[in-house]
Amino acid sequence: MKLFLVLFSLFLLIGCSSEDKSKLTFMVGGAPNELIFWSEVVKNFEKKTGIKVEILRQPADTEQRRQSLVIALSSHSKDPDVFLMDVIWIPQFSASEWLEPLDRYLKNSPLALKLFFEKVVKNIDTYKGKIVALPVYIDGGILYYRKDLLEKIGVKEPPRTWNELIEYSLKAQNLMRRNSPGFYGFIWQGAQYEGLICNFLEIASSNNGGIFFENHKVILNTPENIKALNLLKSFIHDYKISPPNTFTEMKEEEVRIYFQKGLALFERNWPYAWMLHQSNNSPVKNKVEIAPLPHFKNGKPASTLGGWHIGISKYSDQKEKSWKFIEFVLSYETQKELALNLGWNPGRKDVYEDKDVLKKLPHFEKLKNIFDNFIVSRPSLPYYPLVSKIIQKYINASLANKLTPQEALSLAEEEINSMIKRYRNDKTL
Ligand code: GLC
Repeated sequence: MKLFLVLFSLFLLIGCSSEDKSKLTFMVGGAPNELIFWSEVVKNFEKKTGIKVEILRQPADTEQRRQSLVIALSSHSKDPDVFLMDVIWIPQFSASEWLEPLDRYLKNSPLALKLFFEKVVKNIDTYKGKIVALPVYIDGGILYYRKDLLEKIGVKEPPRTWNELIEYSLKAQNLMRRNSPGFYGFIWQGAQYEGLICNFLEIASSNNGGIFFENHKVILNTPENIKALNLLKSFIHDYKISPPNTFTEMKEEEVRIYFQKGLALFERNWPYAWMLHQSNNSPVKNKVEIAPLPHFKNGKPASTLGGWHIGISKYSDQKEKSWKFIEFVLSYETQKELALNLGWNPGRKDVYEDKDVLKKLPHFEKLKNIFDNFIVSRPSLPYYPLVSKIIQKYINASLANKLTPQEALSLAEEEINSMIKRYRNDKTL
């Protein structure tokens, strides 16, 4: 079945490219409102340049998006020409030499590197001294909270520590469940997928833990991480401030919709949720604020660095046109639209000072503080997707109460370390 799907996808890709050679193909996914945004961008680009673009649509889940791109790139397909990449894929794509270096295009372009966040370009988009991608938008995990409900329970400030978050959650549940039995204190992404790694990294880092690598070995099974995973688990099973379907179903959109229905006090999500919470038919419109995620007593807040970058396939037969498209996507106008329309954080720095942006998105100021001070990165490794899969499996099993946090972390550590050994012997893993 798998082989059939691979062959079928290849057939589709090859079919598309021979159909219309002059069309540029742009592969992108996301929630419905994001795809609408991208069709608008494409329409405007076509109007401006006369270059036709076909969007190859992908789902919202990052791993599914990665897989469809890997199928195309590893088979050296000409399509897609240009695509968005999650920050975590870039080391794999670069090490596989699937990305066209952009330095030569940047030379004669109005897109100067200094327009972007320096650290992001340096740490994410540079491979062996060459620029292989550019940031379209930057993500970081944040805490959304209902300011009206905090007031109702007599609390003035959002929680600084996890203990405060638990205390406020229990109070709000007491109050709200009389009329709203499905109400929960804190919702977050606990399903078995990449989002779980982001949530785990945040809580672990907020206790001075994290996912560390030393001499090609992962260090996971530490007292700080055990304590953090214990707490994550206790939100569901002991304090019961997070719903029981957290570890089976909760991904970004499930969490966002739950909170938007007015059924939670706190939500962990990415900045994209802001605009949707503030939309006209949203029951929580004007009742939401953001803050850094809470931390352990001796730690500080942590926000996982996410975001999406644009690059050109090494196998594209339309590289010049692809670059024109990148210039358009990263132009001031499109980046401003991206902020105003989707509430995303542009990769370009100058848009943050735009008057219209600041007026419509006053919370950008707080976001900037979070990005500047609390960002933590997932490991930058060509085999990161394999590492992530293993951690997801064990942490999720612990959230499901099948393994203790210590068992989960030590099993994950063992499996990752033997995978790395195999990987180092056989790079095609
Ligand atoms: C968001 C982030 C991305 C992350 C994903 C996890 O899309 O931008 O970096 O991997 O969520 O679900």
